[in-house]
Amino acid sequence: MLKNPSAKYQPFPAIPIQNRQWPSRTITKAPIWCSVDLRDGNQALAVPMNVSQKLDMFDALVKCGFKEIEVGFPSASNTEFSFNRRLIEEKRIPDDVTIQVLVQAREDLIEKTVQSLIGAKQVVIHMYNSTSPAQRKYVFGKTKEEIIEVARHGAKLIKDRLHRLTEGGTKVTLQYSPESFSATEVEFAKEISEAVMDVWQPTPEHKMILNLPDTVEVAMPNVYADQIEWICTNIKNRDSLIISLHTHNDRGTGTAATELGLLAGADRVEGTLFGNGERTGNLDIVQVAMNLYMHGTEPKLDFSDMNGLIAMYERTTGMTVPARQPYSGELVFTAFSGSHQDAIKKGLSGYDQHKTIWDVPYLTIDPHDIGREYHEVIRVNSQSGKGGVAYLLESEFGIELPKDMQREFGPIANDLVDKLGREVSGTELKGMFWKEYIERETPFALHHFHADGVDGVFTCRCSLVVNDQERGVVGTGNGPIAAFVNALVSDAGAPAFEVATYREQSLSSGTEAAALAFIQIKTATGKLVWGAGVDTNIELASIKAVLSAVNRAG
Ligand code: KIV
Ligand code: ZN
Repeated sequence: MLKNPSAKYQPFPAIPIQNRQWPSRTITKAPIWCSVDLRDGNQALAVPMNVSQKLDMFDALVKCGFKEIEVGFPSASNTEFSFNRRLIEEKRIPDDVTIQVLVQAREDLIEKTVQSLIGAKQVVIHMYNSTSPAQRKYVFGKTKEEIIEVARHGAKLIKDRLHRLTEGGTKVTLQYSPESFSATEVEFAKEISEAVMDVWQPTPEHKMILNLPDTVEVAMPNVYADQIEWICTNIKNRDSLIISLHTHNDRGTGTAATELGLLAGADRVEGTLFGNGERTGNLDIVQVAMNLYMHGTEPKLDFSDMNGLIAMYERTTGMTVPARQPYSGELVFTAFSGSHQDAIKKGLSGYDQHKTIWDVPYLTIDPHDIGREYHEVIRVNSQSGKGGVAYLLESEFGIELPKDMQREFGPIANDLVDKLGREVSGTELKGMFWKEYIERETPFALHHFHADGVDGVFTCRCSLVVNDQERGVVGTGNGPIAAFVNALVSDAGAPAFEVATYREQSLSSGTEAAALAFIQIKTATGKLVWGAGVDTNIELASIKAVLSAVNRAG
């Protein structure tokens, strides 16, 4: 990289706007959405979609609620052309959905495009030509006036052919994009757009769409907002226009640019699912819709089956959704840090009690709303705290560790996970818990236990394996547990201790119901140690829990 980048790169000039309005506005309703997955997204794929993949995606977009779908560039290839024909001839387009097609301002391409649309109910014909200084200079070698003439000529060619569609009952809306708008002088963008308007003659009753692409992000999103507000304020006949945004993501701010563009007065948004598109991608339309949703605004797009949508996307495009992609990524409802996990666990149980406004720390939305499961929320690695460990044991296996025991087992689990050097599954975590508490057999293992009571005095007779030797031991107390404690200390040679805390719960594993007992003992030195035991018999589960604690204390 250069020591002095200003020798090669320059800042983007400010937009001549005074008294800008957009910073103090808020977005209160969903824009008109247009998916460009099947065109802009498709053209950016190493292997573009075939007709059946495009049909698969079209159906999924309709299911999400898109009412405008740019289906392709029908003059560009046979696949694109025949896709249009199949959609129309097989009557696959619902009555409330408009298909949109892209075309350059060239006669042969316009002709083929019109042919591809015959018989459709309602269509948008989207014409574009490039307008930025670099495109004018390097790509076309044309003056501003010549570039305007390209647009004007293309607009006329389309207008002259419209009757071929309208006579058959097709409702046509026209769309113009000064491509590379955000890198174009706003005055020139206005001039060329007005030249197209002069040909198409939009009215408030029959508007045209003026799409203002951030073809390449060349500035901060506030600059794009200024450009949009400038056009909205200065262009003639604003009420005959639907102002549309089309952002890409070169500086990583495509979503911000779209949102600020909406504040600046735009009515419509073009984008793709998960941001597929040229280079760094198009706007991820899911993000903008879900951002509205998380503020309580109905987005008018439905992503309830996010996993199904991702599967469709990966199947049709061969792309994957990055794990950290907002809302859709695999890890976005996953907390690795212990303090986050703890806060989420508390927030989720708090929310479960009031079930009104979502206020769970670290989770912008309820994962259930988009078909994600709570058990995906927390996974455990060496950075996780006791909260995450407890959450996973409870959500996956119904094991409800007492709070104090969470504090004991959390660090033990963390150490083990740290040694493994990777994230662990719930099953592995349960295995660690079993090894630490349930499967302890030294120095004492239980072979047989029996207790009975007369007049409130219980006697237990059991056989233990102590240091590899089987022996019978006897003890008495005011209950089976007290009798067993007495047997261990007075007959089996265990160091003195008393039971400090006792908890039990039922646990269903497979078809068999079992009991899980947690016992905390206090040794003669005041040390507190937990033990756990599992058995189909609750009394035996408690006895095993006592032994587990004694074995661990030793
Ligand atoms: O990014 C862009 O400018 C485009 C246009 C064709 C609208 O995709
Ligand atoms: Zn684009």
